[in-house]
Amino acid sequence: MYYSDDLIANVRSSSDIVDVIGSYISLTKKGANYVGVCPFHNDHTPSFSVSRSKQIYKCFACGEAGNVITFIMKYENITFVEAVKVLADRAGIKLPEVELSDAEKRKANKKLRLLEVNKEAATYFYRCLRSPHGEKGMKYFRDRGLSDETMQKFGLGFAGVNGHEVVDFLRSKGFSDEEIKDSGIASVSEKNGMSSPFWNRVMYPIMDANHRVIGFGGRVLGDAKPKYLNSPETEIFDKRRNLYGFVFARSSRAGNFILCEGYMDVIAMHQAGFSQAVASLGTAFTQEQANLLSRYTKKVYLAYDSDGPGVKAALRAIEILKSADISGRVIDMRPAKDPDEFIKAYGTEAFQKRIDEAENSFYFLIRTIHDGYDQSDPEQRTSFYKDIARKLCEEFKEPLERENYLIAICERYGINADNMRNMVTDLAAEGAGLPIYQKPKTTVQNKGKEEDSGKLAQSMLLTWLTDEPELLPKIQKYVTTADFTDDMYRKVAERVFTDIEEGKLDPAAVIDLFEEEEQQQVAGLFQAKLPDTNTPEERKRAFSDIIIKVKENSYNHFAETALTDMSKLTESIRLKKELEQLKRTGVSLS
Ligand code: UTP
Ligand code: MN
Repeated sequence: MYYSDDLIANVRSSSDIVDVIGSYISLTKKGANYVGVCPFHNDHTPSFSVSRSKQIYKCFACGEAGNVITFIMKYENITFVEAVKVLADRAGIKLPEVELSDAEKRKANKKLRLLEVNKEAATYFYRCLRSPHGEKGMKYFRDRGLSDETMQKFGLGFAGVNGHEVVDFLRSKGFSDEEIKDSGIASVSEKNGMSSPFWNRVMYPIMDANHRVIGFGGRVLGDAKPKYLNSPETEIFDKRRNLYGFVFARSSRAGNFILCEGYMDVIAMHQAGFSQAVASLGTAFTQEQANLLSRYTKKVYLAYDSDGPGVKAALRAIEILKSADISGRVIDMRPAKDPDEFIKAYGTEAFQKRIDEAENSFYFLIRTIHDGYDQSDPEQRTSFYKDIARKLCEEFKEPLERENYLIAICERYGINADNMRNMVTDLAAEGAGLPIYQKPKTTVQNKGKEEDSGKLAQSMLLTWLTDEPELLPKIQKYVTTADFTDDMYRKVAERVFTDIEEGKLDPAAVIDLFEEEEQQQVAGLFQAKLPDTNTPEERKRAFSDIIIKVKENSYNHFAETALTDMSKLTESIRLKKELEQLKRTGVSLS
């Protein structure tokens, strides 16, 4: 942590969550909360709820939750420290220069040094391209139709005639061999000593969202293999979380992204004015990359190669996008192989037209299945129909949506819609008999459910207590923090109980106590959905039920350990009696 807890608390309390979030998305008051359309998934109804009293938010559709700091982090895709800065600026609070621990300093310094190595190397390659040594590279880029402006924008370069030049250059800039090695630009081998794999290649520096060079791709000038060499992953180069071209695409005004396969595709598209183009980094498209895109827009076009592997990669990317709530659309590149080729052959306007006509991913899926069958063979055609029916069942749970697609697909391929409907119905009926639908409930599954309902009760209790802290003293004769069986839940409960006792409950502050990965779950604990109740009687009853559930879960946990530990047996029996008593009488809140 860079800033003191006090300072962070100050920044947080000076940043009212409704005001801050309200400046990003539109919020309307509804009951005690404010609601709006969730910015973190493709929301149709206002599922996003912000609580002024608790200073936290939660989306009831996608589960995204947190406090004002996590909101800024996620919305702006920035780090905790950066988010604190944003909020401090907004609130007019002056932040001290950051104080780091020694270990943090070393780590931060190391990263800074690696960024420096990359920056110097990029400069070196950049100059080399524009020097007599780089003529070959310059000719290569020119032949591929790149303008000087484009080459400059992407910082393109050339790696000299051998793998030692860049190493010597970096050493002359004062970098140690270890730093050069750790940056991935060079490695040590017995044969060559310290040398770089990047030589006689045109160089594509890879930048993060903040214009910092974090790695390189290097392409051979001819047809030799491997075509591209990429920097290995390093402390600053995370291939799963960065995208080529993203630094420019994030501020493009297109309102969508175009996902391509290759560096050259991205460059060609930007040169043609499609500055929303990005590509993954020599690896398959990842979930992290999809999540990153989905924070900006839910509109993503796929501009993958039209060949077999390209289609396969597109189908995979569609699945990944889907889990980030993006339904990708596929741009038809045929007869060109890739966007670079397409734009060269048919021009920008034709490409724009292809974007406008981009196929919804389901049509694309069906088309690829179609192309896989010999349609003149009746048997294969039947298989094709069956595949369609299966996909309609798998992809659309909503009957109306399924019907719409069924009609559209049948029209497209000249299939009788009634026949298809029958196939779908049969398949759905058959589906009821498939093993997947009748998996016997194993004890493990039951145990999982049992645990889930125990946790749910614990989160409801925490939510209820943050809504009505005055209830705490009344329930303490029944419940202690030890009844929270999950480590995280217990940690939260301990803090909430103490805070209430000291009269300074602040759920948003509790969230900051946890690591980033856990914050969302913690925020969720304060915003569990409570049972609907109409009368005070019903309300009491519901509250009592929750407490009993918490106790029961706690007892089950204890009883399990008592099985192997005889000394706990008497205690276990006593607890059991207590629980049964409680179940009979209910909780008394007087
Ligand atoms: P492509 O072969 O489609 O690359 O591979 P491209 O960018 O269109 O290259 P040109 O037009 O032939 O110059 C797509 C991407 O796959 C990765 C690179 O990221 C490339 O941009 N790749 C490909 C590698 O990492 N290594 C390889 O050997 C080949
Ligand atoms: Mn290409």
